[in-house]
Amino acid sequence: MNFQSQTFVEYPGGNTLLPLNTMKYRLLSFALFLVIASVPGFSAQGKHTPMEDQMEEINAAYRKLGRQIKDPAKNADSLKQAGIIREHAIAATKMDPKRKADVPAAEQAKFISEYQSAMKAFVDEIGKLEAALKAGKNEEAAAALQALKVAQENGHRDFRRRKVTFEEKAAEAARRNEEK
Ligand code: HEM
Repeated sequence: MNFQSQTFVEYPGGNTLLPLNTMKYRLLSFALFLVIASVPGFSAQGKHTPMEDQMEEINAAYRKLGRQIKDPAKNADSLKQAGIIREHAIAATKMDPKRKADVPAAEQAKFISEYQSAMKAFVDEIGKLEAALKAGKNEEAAAALQALKVAQENGHRDFRRRKVTFEEKAAEAARRNEEK
């Protein structure tokens, strides 16, 4: 590009003169940012439910336990991590999963009561893990951690909002089309 032929404009708030093309590029990038940020799915990212916040804390402590549960030298810290899981699991027990909204109104009380029972059972499993660590029985503690994993899988299957797959959306659309 011929530098001589460029138009220069004053950059707002500054005393530098920028080439018009650079200004256009900056304005376009800013406009694009505004458009992307206003897309619901995008702007919703980063917004966590209070329960998701508890689960994030549980997750971090659970992953740390996975790395060190068999190491007796780490038992003091492992007990600390188990305590973190317990604390946040108890907090999460008092919260309603998002999936409650997907359940028919008449079944919501049952859904919440089952969720709370599953969470209480999960907290009991943490107690077993703590007892094994206190007794210095690391193999037993590792087995108890495995039980937490199973409780997690079952808990997510039964109480976490399901992600609708592409195939399910397509099948739903096909069904609606047939009804027309
Ligand atoms: C080791 C145990 C567990 C781990 C590591 C874990 C981890 C997680 C993570 C990472 C999330 C997603 C959070 C986010 O999107 O930011 C989540 C969500 C969730 N978990 Fe767990 N979880 C565990 C146990 C459980 C148990 C035992 C239950 C139920 C009895 C449960 C129920 C849920 C529900 C319902 C959600 C969705 C939150 C909402 O609806 O707002 N989780 N969990």
